[in-house]
Amino acid sequence: MNKSTHIKPYQSEKSKKEQIEAMFDNIAHKYDFLNHFLSLGIDNGWRKKVVKELQPYKPQQIIDIATGTGDLAIAIHKKIPDARITGIDISEKMLDYGRKKISRLQLKRNIDLQIGDAENIDFPDQYFDAATVAFGVRNFENLQKGLDELYRTLRSPGVLVILEFSQPASFPFKQLYNIYFKHILPVMGKLFSKDNSAYTYLPESVQHFPHGKKLADLLHHTGFKKVSIKRLTLGVSSLYVCEK
Ligand SMILES: C[S@@+](CC[C@H](N)C(=O)[O-])C[C@H]1O[C@@H](n2cnc3c(N)ncnc32)[C@H](O)[C@@H]1O
Repeated sequence: MNKSTHIKPYQSEKSKKEQIEAMFDNIAHKYDFLNHFLSLGIDNGWRKKVVKELQPYKPQQIIDIATGTGDLAIAIHKKIPDARITGIDISEKMLDYGRKKISRLQLKRNIDLQIGDAENIDFPDQYFDAATVAFGVRNFENLQKGLDELYRTLRSPGVLVILEFSQPASFPFKQLYNIYFKHILPVMGKLFSKDNSAYTYLPESVQHFPHGKKLADLLHHTGFKKVSIKRLTLGVSSLYVCEK
């Protein structure tokens, strides 16, 4: 089992999945604000890059796993307006905020947000032309199970695009970034979200999560025949474009 399974937000006997659900329910009211504030708005640019990777495949049926408040689903719709997009997430509160945005933007016919677990996707085999996961895989309780489910529900040919935090490597950016990510961000996150652990869990979970070639190896092992890695913002995040 992957090491990241043992990194949980709270000191409690509850499973990682239960804790993750509770954590996102708890921070949902401030999630969008903190995302944009703590990343200086760069997160939106990263999501646009996910969409750019999807576009050449012209997918019609897309699943956005761990969709949260739906920002990636909305970004996909802007560039691929004919696609039917289903977003799933285990946090009802995150989805509530997403549904409000989608209804404000009058996108209910294009984007459907449903409660659902990445490790047990409630759709038949080979149902989707494309799948996306932004900042979700790191939170899975059983990473391999989630990747297997993504593979199962994707059509062949089909494409999966994962966006996830990685770890910058170059001096002095790495050192400066680590001061921010491990010391400043947790304090700001705690202040605004009122959750004592969520923004301490964030850097801890990134530190223990396989990134770069290690994650690409897992994706190959899952069955994806071509996996390319693109480092974003000096390696703060990475994109993994995987073809089935
Ligand atoms: C950091 S948020 C990312 C939300 C959104 N994708 C974005 O880009 O802002 C992570 C989301 O993953 C969800 N999540 C974690 N484990 C999950 C699982 N097993 N199945 C579905 N969603 C999950 C959480 O509830 C949370 O909403």
